[in-house]
Amino acid sequence: MNNSGEPETIVGEAEYLMIRLADEIVGGILEHAAAGRTYVLGLATGSTPLPLYAELVRRHRNEGLSFQNVVTFNLDEYEHLKPDDPMSYHAFMRKELFDHVDIKLELTFIPPAFYEDELSAAQAYERTITQYGGIDLQIVGIGSNGHIGFNEPGSEQTTRTRRVELTEATRRAAAKGFGGLENVPTHAMTMGVETIMEARRIILLATGAHKAAIVQKAMSGNISSTVPATFLQDHSSAAWYLDTSAAGR
Ligand code: GLP
Repeated sequence: MNNSGEPETIVGEAEYLMIRLADEIVGGILEHAAAGRTYVLGLATGSTPLPLYAELVRRHRNEGLSFQNVVTFNLDEYEHLKPDDPMSYHAFMRKELFDHVDIKLELTFIPPAFYEDELSAAQAYERTITQYGGIDLQIVGIGSNGHIGFNEPGSEQTTRTRRVELTEATRRAAAKGFGGLENVPTHAMTMGVETIMEARRIILLATGAHKAAIVQKAMSGNISSTVPATFLQDHSSAAWYLDTSAAGR
């Protein structure tokens, strides 16, 4: 429990964190498989979870871990990037995880990049999460401005999946990968804060000294939409997995 304002915090070298997080995920997958149930995993993109995905792929290859009972929901997707665009989160997930494990691709869900009607597209995503019984474990990263998914500063606790405008800070952070700020999409579709908070467990993963200041704000600052990650302080089963650099403050 972390309603006391003291979130469960796990600090260690990045390698240790990823192994421990993989252990938790694998434990969930196996427990649900034994009960004949699907395990619903919420996934994040960005550079932070890359070693986690590598570890899950390794366990599939070397230890026979199966993803046959796993359903996944990603937090977000850039607007108007085709699924085969290397900068899309659809492509990212296939490259880093889905193409290397035995997951059923039709059970991997990512918010759409194209839609005629943003509201019905967003509601359809929410309905699919509900249809699979909600998210068992949601992995989230943190942006330098405190965003989770693409819930930028100003995103309220009651927000649901929706189309959002990206801040300049977020677009700048992504500019290198896109070969210039002008190529970074201006909008995205993201799970809302409330959508994320409905996950039965949430793990925020942060690594690197450049995340230390925002991690400190997110963990111990006033809970407010100014830093959307602060809402996690109110979750009954949230954990912060930090490497020693990100925990530096
Ligand atoms: C993007 C993603 C977030 C992610 C953040 C941090 O904005 N939409 O979900 O947490 O980047 O990325 P990184 O892990 O590369 O620092």
